[in-house]
Parts: sequence; structure tokens; C-alpha cells
Amino acid sequence: MKKPTGNIESSSKKLTEMSVSQGQFTLNRKPIDVKLQAWEAADEYLLKYVDEQNLLAEPLSLLIINDAFGALTVALAAYKPTTMSDSYLAQQAMMENLSANELDPAALKFNNGLSLPAKAFDLVLIKTPKSHALLEFQLRLLKPSIGANTIIIASGMSRSIHNKTLQLFETIVGPTTTSLAWKKSRLIFATPNLSLEVPFANSSDRFVLETNRSFNISSHANVFSRGRLDEGSQLLIEHMPINEQYRDIADLGCGNGVLGIIASSLNKPSSIIFADESYMAVSSAKQNFGEAFGKSIKAHFKVTDCLHGVEDESIDLVLNNPPFHQLNAIGDAIAWQMFIDARRVLRKDAALYVVGNRHLGYHTKVKKVFGNCEMITSNQKFVVLKAVKQ
Ligand SMILES: C[S@@+](CC[C@H](N)C(=O)[O-])C[C@H]1O[C@@H](n2cnc3c(N)ncnc32)[C@H](O)[C@@H]1O
Repeated sequence: MKKPTGNIESSSKKLTEMSVSQGQFTLNRKPIDVKLQAWEAADEYLLKYVDEQNLLAEPLSLLIINDAFGALTVALAAYKPTTMSDSYLAQQAMMENLSANELDPAALKFNNGLSLPAKAFDLVLIKTPKSHALLEFQLRLLKPSIGANTIIIASGMSRSIHNKTLQLFETIVGPTTTSLAWKKSRLIFATPNLSLEVPFANSSDRFVLETNRSFNISSHANVFSRGRLDEGSQLLIEHMPINEQYRDIADLGCGNGVLGIIASSLNKPSSIIFADESYMAVSSAKQNFGEAFGKSIKAHFKVTDCLHGVEDESIDLVLNNPPFHQLNAIGDAIAWQMFIDARRVLRKDAALYVVGNRHLGYHTKVKKVFGNCEMITSNQKFVVLKAVKQ
């Protein structure tokens, strides 16, 4: 553990040096972005509060939920927290940031948030997620791990804490209050009411996808466009390439798997890879694909960063609707990496199909990576692009 500075206001101006009550730590985002900090005021506020209120007396059974890049996990590593997140990038960032601070990455107790063994925690720290569906799912999951004396504190930037956020704490956990704002962030305090009846709710959302046949698509709480088909995905589906040469397909950033499922239905490939950095996405894709095709097509489901771990020159068609933001930051670093990885895994003469918002300018990026880029179709909002590996 680094030497405590004790003074939060002496925060270093360097974007990678986080100075909080527990000490000074080096923190990077994943993917690394030198222009963006890997933590926010809501992390600093929470760390300051737990220190000032002496909530860190050992032994402590500590659970941290939705830590974005490890600010909380690294600063509180001495208390051996369990960390719960849906994000593989967050998990990787935590390990890298533990290493960067001479802490043991192998000690990370990571839980992917799909289930949580019922174990009572003394202190639960939550970064409020943008999605209310995810928060609701997580609070319900947490319920059996809350005892009468469990302290539950959430934090978030004030702009992302809504009445609905507080209502979820109130109805699932118990009486809820908030702190004053500090650097545009707030804390939420929820006091457990163990006699609160919380009716069962199925957290997955579902819709029927109609093409040459009907597919039931269900999605866990944190999955992109979980209640309906995204307009961009729809445009790509309407122009889904069909070619008997497409033996091996990859659905990159698969979400609930809609693109790969339709491609499988139209192309009958011998194998398909579904890849996403969200554990909930990959789990949803697996369920949806299994329901549609059983074991008739060989399918691999990978929680990974872009196509990391997929063999070079092993794929005939990559389908991709890239993310255009990571948490609250809009950026194209992940899209770039997706195009680079797509080119790497494609065989010669094989193709990448991308759909994106027109204003994102994917055409230029794809052309830079592949040396060619053709527009297949467009409407007022979206464009479908094709690039061929030469
Ligand atoms: C715009 S959504 C598309 C989802 C799905 N393909 C569809 O069309 O509905 C982008 C997806 O990329 C995933 N993603 C974001 N960053 C990623 C990364 N580094 N590696 C793999 N997937 C990522 C997100 O979790 C999300 O599911």
C-alpha cells in the first residue's frame, strides 16, 4: 500500500496520478487514453467518506460494485475486496492498475455480476451505473448478501443520479438518503430493511426478431438495445451478406447476438464466434443462439477485448456494430481496435461489414485499416460499410 497523503485537495494535476485519502495511486483507463482520467470525483468522494467515517476497520468483508478502472479496488486493496462488474475491460484495468501500484493482481476477487454467492458483506460500495435496469438487477442480486448491519453507500456524478435511482435503493434495500454534492458528485446511503418484500422480477428483456424465421431474443440487464432491435443493427440485417464461402463468421461486439444469429440463419456457417467485453452480453448471445440453433452450428462465446484470442486469418466474415462510447466518454479507440482486430483475423479476400451512425465517420477509419471501403447502403442515420482484406 502506498504512503497515505491524507489530503485530497493536494490532488496531482497529472491525469494518471490519483491522490485520495488512502494514498497516491497510478491509474490508467482501458483502453489507455492519455486525455481521460481513469477515475472521477464520485470515486474520490466515496474514498474520502469511508476514511473520514472510519468505515474501514479490519476485518472487513467488502464488496465493490461497478468500479470502472479500479480506482476503488486499488485504493482499498488492503481490505481484500470482492469486486463485481459486468465489464471485462474493467476487470483487465483493475489487474493492470493493481500491478502498476505494486499490488498483486492475482489477489483480485472478481465476480462477473451474473450471480453472487450469498455471503454477508459488512460494507458495500456501489458506483451507480447509467442503466437503471442494471442497478435494479444488481440490488436484487445483492439482497441475500445484506445483513441488518451491512453499510451500503453508492456514489455517482450528480447528473446521473435520478429520482428513479433513489427509488430503486428505497424499494429494494430500504430507507435512502443522499449527501450534499461535492465536486458535482453525490453519495447515496441506503439502510437495510430486511423485512422489505421485494417481488421477483425477471430482469431479462425480450423481443421477437422476424427475418426468414422468428427468433426469440432475450437480454440481460446490461445488454445494448435489450428491448428492441437497434436501428443500425436492423439496417445491417436487411443487407446481411449471403455467400456459401462464409464458413467461419465472427460477431464482434455481439451484444445479444442478433447479427450473428441472422448471419447463421442465412449462411449456415460451420462455425461462429460471438465476442463481447460484457459478460451479460455474451451470456445472452449464448442463450439466444442455443435456443435458435441448438448444437447444429459450432459456436464459441468469448468474453474478451475486441477479438483478442481469436486466431489470425481464421475468419471469412466479421460483423460489427461498434460501441461509440465507453461509460460516459464518447470516443473511437475501441472502434479502431475492432477494425484492426477484424483485419487480423480475416482470411485473404474475406470481408468486414460495419454499421454505424453516419456522423461517426467510420468510412475513413475502415479505409485506413483495410486500404479499401465500400458503402453498401445508408439511410438518414446509419451507413453500412464493407472492407475486404487484401
Ligand atoms: C453498439 S453495441 C452492438 C451490439 C450488437 N452487435 C447489436 O447489433 O445489437 C456494441 C457492443 O460492443 C461491445 N463492446 C464494447 N467494447 C468492447 C470491446 N473492447 N471488446 C468487445 N466488445 C466490446 C458492447 O458491450 C456492446 O455489446
